[in-house]
Amino acid sequence: MRIQWCEDAISFDTHAAGFVLDLLAGRPEAVVALPTGGTPAGMYARLRAAGAVNPALFSRARWFDLDEYVGLGASHPLSFAHFLHVHLFDAIAPQPAQVRLLRGNAADIETECRDYDQAIESAGGLDLAILGLGANGHIAFNEPGSPWHLTTHGVELSEQTRAANAAWLRTTEDIPGLGLTMSIATLRQARNILLLVSGDSKRWALQSLLAGVEDPAWPVTSLIGHPRLTVVASAQLRSVGD
Ligand code: PGA
Repeated sequence: MRIQWCEDAISFDTHAAGFVLDLLAGRPEAVVALPTGGTPAGMYARLRAAGAVNPALFSRARWFDLDEYVGLGASHPLSFAHFLHVHLFDAIAPQPAQVRLLRGNAADIETECRDYDQAIESAGGLDLAILGLGANGHIAFNEPGSPWHLTTHGVELSEQTRAANAAWLRTTEDIPGLGLTMSIATLRQARNILLLVSGDSKRWALQSLLAGVEDPAWPVTSLIGHPRLTVVASAQLRSVGD
């Protein structure tokens, strides 16, 4: 595991975006799983800026998302698909064949999950999974205690996760109680993982990772031992690593 401590938001966003741009420079056709949340917003701003200067940067990449709310279609303002359009796709304008996002409003959720796994497999698996971190240690929507061996699946979201998401989405609307998520097994198979950690509420979750002991109560510990795990973390959390 490589950890990059960042003193401020500019450094954090620059390192996060730089990692993605470096990977795409070496592998323009990379298959990338994208996060939503407050943490990656600055990274997306930098990616949009890079794409404005050089639109060819993203012309061959393929994009998936980590998770979605059950019941919400891509046009719903609270959907993660909507978030990714606003923060990235509207600016870099990928071809439809370059993007496969989870369909939260699919008529048959089970079939949607199997189709999604099939699409990831057909793309050759993930070259990069970019992850945020939940205060409770979740990665994507893999909540504490969830099995690590599953494929893409539906999950019941914790109250903590729903409240945190309502806060960054700045909404008073009810956040759905069910989600779809890429599995821990899929994430662990990604050839590179970039984990973004900022905010005081993530202190204990980051601590669980740095402690180096796998623990199903802290899903992020499933990443321990991954051969190409890079963590970009705000330096205010550094004491947990000392
Ligand atoms: P956040 O969410 O970036 O809004 O803190 C992270 C996550 O829940 O994965």
